[in-house]
Amino acid sequence: MLVTVKALLDEAKRERKAVGAFNGTTLESIQGIIRAAEELDCPVILQHAQSHDTIVPMDEIGPVLLFYAGRAKVPVAVHLDHGSSFERCVQAIRLGFTSVMYDASGKEFETNVRETAEIVRIAHAAGVSVEAELGHIFTSEIVAGEGTEADSAADYEDIQDIYTDPQAAKVFVERTGVDSLAVAFGTVHGVYLTEPKLDLPRVAAIRDAAGIPLVMHGGSGVSDEDYKAAIENGICKVNYYTYMNTAGGRASVEYWKDGEKPLFYDQMALAAAEAMKEDVKRAMKVFQRK
Ligand code: 13P
Repeated sequence: MLVTVKALLDEAKRERKAVGAFNGTTLESIQGIIRAAEELDCPVILQHAQSHDTIVPMDEIGPVLLFYAGRAKVPVAVHLDHGSSFERCVQAIRLGFTSVMYDASGKEFETNVRETAEIVRIAHAAGVSVEAELGHIFTSEIVAGEGTEADSAADYEDIQDIYTDPQAAKVFVERTGVDSLAVAFGTVHGVYLTEPKLDLPRVAAIRDAAGIPLVMHGGSGVSDEDYKAAIENGICKVNYYTYMNTAGGRASVEYWKDGEKPLFYDQMALAAAEAMKEDVKRAMKVFQRK
């Protein structure tokens, strides 16, 4: 059943849980995510990141995400992850996505406010929820690519300029009307090369100031204790992709290792789907405190 992200996150906020948001870049990952959610009877967010257009463009994968969401036995939202323009967000809304993220976090505060508010207006008129980002979330060297520079806390003199400021978040939410906010507190997109050090009191301060569900990006590789503490402090959506993807990759390598098996690509893909499902289930149990 297709639902909005807002419906899922408002409930998660009340129950102090988080909904997992997984990037479905292949049929196998989409099947793995939906099966995991159905086996655990758990709501889920299927998302497409604009940067994954290089793997599969949104106009091809969007209808597939919506198809699987629509016939799932659990509530599923379909979300645009890191949309970078007004046009891209409108394209996702027209495809039928129930939520969009507009990421203007690299722009000046006033520009971020103005552009996000514009998208909130059109999205809300269409019944679609909006996530925005304030502060800067790091990128690991393992995923940095075209237009994305790798960075970490060590690259900045004063981390206060990088992490989300609670008072700025309050003003941002009031002026834009966004439904959820991605916050910077030490997580990294991609593989962690050093142990994550999360500023958890900051998350609680942002929650108290902003009052809306908060989103953790760079969910892969965080310890179960840190996930739980972050959720306790206000995180209601965890974006998780890299470790699910590598679980599929590892299963494929394992499959090929067995010299007895025929070299059938579809059988390897099934093994990858199963491994991704199990990895997603493990993450979902932590996020949902099951
Ligand atoms: P990871 O790939 O690090 O899990 O992060 C996913 C993400 O934040 C997508 O927006």
